[in-house]
Amino acid sequence: MAKVDIAQQVLEHYSESIPKHIGIIMDGNGRWAKNKGMPRVYGHKKGVDSVRNAVRFCRKVGVESLTLFAFSSENWKRPEEEVSGLMDLFMYVLTKEVKNLHKNNVVLKIVGDISAFSNSIQQKVKEAQELTGDNTGLILNVAANYGGRWDIVEACKRVAEQVKNGDVSVDDITEDSFDDETAFASQQPLDLLIRTGGEVRVSNFMLWQLAYAELHFSPVYWPEFNDQELAIAIEAFAGTERRFGLTGEQVSG
Ligand code: IPE
Ligand code: IPE
Ligand code: MG
Repeated sequence: MAKVDIAQQVLEHYSESIPKHIGIIMDGNGRWAKNKGMPRVYGHKKGVDSVRNAVRFCRKVGVESLTLFAFSSENWKRPEEEVSGLMDLFMYVLTKEVKNLHKNNVVLKIVGDISAFSNSIQQKVKEAQELTGDNTGLILNVAANYGGRWDIVEACKRVAEQVKNGDVSVDDITEDSFDDETAFASQQPLDLLIRTGGEVRVSNFMLWQLAYAELHFSPVYWPEFNDQELAIAIEAFAGTERRFGLTGEQVSG
């Protein structure tokens, strides 16, 4: 029997309501592995399959930006063994997956303070961003050593610098001009945040960009988050009326 392509079905049913920018807090790798009696890093490795799948799905349904939370600024505090396992995995993915992303016209951006990573990771990041920088397909932002507060503070520093240099006056600072200094400047506003793994919190992810995003929390652990689960999230998104402060009558006419 032919395998049903869920992404294709989603496209057919919800083509008018596909989020332009999806952010995902990929949570639950550790608990998934623990349930299987395996080390936490095993869960992170399995999580890479879910990443590959989410990228394929988002390309297929026409999402413009996909932002994946891979490593938070707080995750350094985890046991040494887990942090170094994650770094090895990051290096492996940057070495093995980038060619395929490039072939699929994906623009890869690493968002976060990458100066804390090893020189070899920083070099791979630079090469990957250069290689894929002129592509025109899905923008894949991988948030690594990222925090929403970090992004806001970095933007503040850039604005302060502009004021100090006399390029901008304080009265000219607006929400839009501030947004231009954040890590996701010039990308589509975040439409949909998904968090897997059951927790209902944002853990310092995309704080500025979350202002009017729809939120979808799934109990499914990231290594098991598949097309079916993505379809559930998009179906829920398509079913909400986004009012942006207006009344329902104003929005639906
Ligand atoms: C998310 O899964 C991945 C990273 C934070 C790197 P976790 O490792 O947080 O998995 P749980 O939440 O402990 O199950
Ligand atoms: C958020 O998950 C970070 C990533 C998914 C990379 P955490 O597992 O670190 O979040 P908390 O600690 O449960 O808030
Ligand atoms: Mg977690």
